[in-house]
Amino acid sequence: MEMLKSIALLLLPLSAASFFVPSTYRKESLSRLAASIEINEKTAKELTDKSAIVTGASSGLGKALALQLAKCDMKKIVLSGRNMDSLQDVKEQCDALNSQCEFHVLPCDLSDIEASKKFAKDALSKCNDNVDVLVLCGGMSSRSSFLESSYEVDEMLMKVNFLSGSAISKEIVPSMVDKGSGSIIWISSVQGLIGTPYRTSYAASKFAVQGYCEALRSELTSSGISVHCVSPGYISTNLSLNAANGDGSSYGKMDQTTANGANPNQVAGEILNNVFSKGKSDFVVAAGFSATAAIILKFFAPKFLEQKLVKRFLKAQKNE
Ligand SMILES: *[C@@H]1O[C@H](CO)[C@@H](O)[C@H](O)[C@H]1NC(C)=O
Repeated sequence: MEMLKSIALLLLPLSAASFFVPSTYRKESLSRLAASIEINEKTAKELTDKSAIVTGASSGLGKALALQLAKCDMKKIVLSGRNMDSLQDVKEQCDALNSQCEFHVLPCDLSDIEASKKFAKDALSKCNDNVDVLVLCGGMSSRSSFLESSYEVDEMLMKVNFLSGSAISKEIVPSMVDKGSGSIIWISSVQGLIGTPYRTSYAASKFAVQGYCEALRSELTSSGISVHCVSPGYISTNLSLNAANGDGSSYGKMDQTTANGANPNQVAGEILNNVFSKGKSDFVVAAGFSATAAIILKFFAPKFLEQKLVKRFLKAQKNE
């Protein structure tokens, strides 16, 4: 009897693991195949003649999402970010991929909520009040302990990762409700499911996104609008370079975990396929072994995870 119980306890997390780790990544880690995940036919068909707004499109995952969208027969795509030069560069790459689609560059600093509202109004009018896909990908991470983080960093990350998205949604979504269709894709993080040391500000802002999306989905589904909350693990982007220290200055370092993360183009392809082909609402992408294990432990052995995180903090503190 005891043995049966232990076997069941062992199998439960394993089946949960296969649920949380997307099959493409499982295959990839086995064979280390580098083939890029392209958007499939169904996704491309769903996006035909559609208009999209993408924040955080100047680099990293946002740029990769913009480029993947540009490969579809879309009508209009508004590209937003802080760095105008990078945005122009992304627009040129998009133009080269698709000469039929109209690409617009609208810079916006997401830490400025009034600017975010104005941006959303401008983006809506660029799309003739007809936005089909809103991708909220602009974000910023943090890298410091609670004791070393100022309140202002909490506030800035809440603005950049969450409040700006709420402000933008409030401008865009009413027009989606009017026409009875639309998709909101909000890029959260595995850290929106599990709070880890040195990330109080970041985890708080991403947990906010998770809760907001869940509540929003309950209200918008009956209006024909789908709300998707995506939780990526480590992706090879500049996220850590641009992360905030406790005093608000830039961390400026490329963490190994980030550098060794998943390929943003593959992750972007997988996100779009999950949304437009598979109709997934909340999903994890690019989760490595430790992120997957942490998610499973949170459900099955929360106390064990708690202790692991305490140890991780103590170890990191020693290495400082
Ligand atoms: C990271 O930043 C550098 C310098 O701005 C840029 O060249 C590079 O493309 C960025 N990487 C990604 C993945 O966006």
